[in-house]
Amino acid sequence: MSDSVSGPLTADSIAGAAYIVAALLFILSLAGLSKHEKARAGVIYGIAGMVIALAATVWLTLQGAWGTGHGLTGLVLLLAAVLVGGAIGLWRARVVEMTGMPELIALLHSFVGLAAVLVGWNGHLEAPALSPDLMAVHHAEVFIGVFIGAVTFTGSIVAFLKLSARMKSSPLMLPGKNAINLGALAGFIALTVWYVNDSQLWLLIVVTILALGLGWHLVASIGGGDMPVVVSMLNSYSGWAAAAAGFLLNNDLLIITGALVGSSGAYLSYIMCKAMNRSFISVIAGGFGIAAPAAADADYGEHREITAQATADMLTNASSVVITPGYGMAVAQAQYPVAELAHQLRERGVNVRFGIHPVAGRLPGHMNVLLAEAKVPYDIVLEMDEINDDLDGTSVVLVIGANDTVNPAAAEDPSSPIAGMPVLRVWEADNVVVFKRSMAAGYAGVQNPLFFRDNSQMLFGDAKQRVEDILRAF
Ligand code: TAP
Repeated sequence: MSDSVSGPLTADSIAGAAYIVAALLFILSLAGLSKHEKARAGVIYGIAGMVIALAATVWLTLQGAWGTGHGLTGLVLLLAAVLVGGAIGLWRARVVEMTGMPELIALLHSFVGLAAVLVGWNGHLEAPALSPDLMAVHHAEVFIGVFIGAVTFTGSIVAFLKLSARMKSSPLMLPGKNAINLGALAGFIALTVWYVNDSQLWLLIVVTILALGLGWHLVASIGGGDMPVVVSMLNSYSGWAAAAAGFLLNNDLLIITGALVGSSGAYLSYIMCKAMNRSFISVIAGGFGIAAPAAADADYGEHREITAQATADMLTNASSVVITPGYGMAVAQAQYPVAELAHQLRERGVNVRFGIHPVAGRLPGHMNVLLAEAKVPYDIVLEMDEINDDLDGTSVVLVIGANDTVNPAAAEDPSSPIAGMPVLRVWEADNVVVFKRSMAAGYAGVQNPLFFRDNSQMLFGDAKQRVEDILRAF
């Protein structure tokens, strides 16, 4: 009994209690973030949980360090790490544009992966003294943690390079790519059994190299259109990597948090795959089974252009207007004039609604956040499935900086790389005006036949300036 109120056990039990409170706050945070109205509370729960978790960890670390006579060294190392990490994090969070969030997230996932690899290596080099059975468990934890961490590390770096356009977004199509992935997985299982029985350093080196290569190959094999799923899948992997590190460090909070991130990321990937009509297994296995699509350099004919004045006239005579925004609206920061345009048209009695594709922009909910920021009423912002059947019969659709999400090839051309992905069927409207700066392809790198249809016209230029031109023309 006296043990529980004195010595290091007290520090452990207090920290354990703090970890449980933090874990509960993280669960509340996830629950809050799943609804518009409760999102703000969700963020506050998350911050509170993180403050408690950090404070408990710092306190526990210092307690341990003082106990072994290394208190000052521990304090200095901890402060240095927190200051450097905190300063970089604050700086990046302040300067990142909303459109740059996915690549920042991908980069942050790579750090989680790297941390899991380092923790695993440390677990090998400083193996604790355990009974043979527990030692086998420890070795399995080291090996699995290093493998998941290394896959997450290189996979996230490739995702970062693709999302920031430093690497081509088209899928890498190595011959026998499915065999490469399966072979790597089989190799990992065989090496794990070997390492658990005989924990030699070279086995750890081999699995690290194998996993680094596999992570790179898995994500490089996935095409641009499927990148949203990859980002959420890497989010899931980073969670499992953190959970594996939690087992090694004997840290319950890391295990719980890692499992929360891992399972919610996996579920989000599953929902996104369903929304995009993709096979979940195929995407998590790096485009497993997807054949290279035929290169389609089809000649779609001539496109037509329209002026801002003519668009304003068309809108004035319209009875219903649907606005389908995409990544270009975010880049141009056109949401404010777009909101004003919707407002003015509604004042004139036009039925205005927004149609939001689930992967419009560069991260889930991107368009909803921008429109909410510009104070567009929630009730006129509809999901793709809610608006698609109404597009036939709509007088005018304004496609503002969207491309892949309104591409008829997805519905009509089975050889297209985005074939089967549900899209907004804007071409069924009476008139379509496409706002973009050029005839360039969208993120998936596929030409869009919509631009050449008889009922489509292009309004070239920066989306924000063109919408402001229309407002002036009214
Ligand atoms: P995209 O297909 O990327 O098309 C955006 C269009 O905006 C481009 O064609 C571009 O044409 C135009 N644009 C860029 N800057 C502009 C500006 N200042 N003014 C006017 N137009 C501008 O976008 P989308 O339709 O939103 O589709 C999203 C794509 O991103 C999908 O392929 C999706 O899979 C992928 N993705 C989505 C996510 C998530 S989770 N949402 C994450 C990663 C990737 P110009 O260059 O000619 O102007």
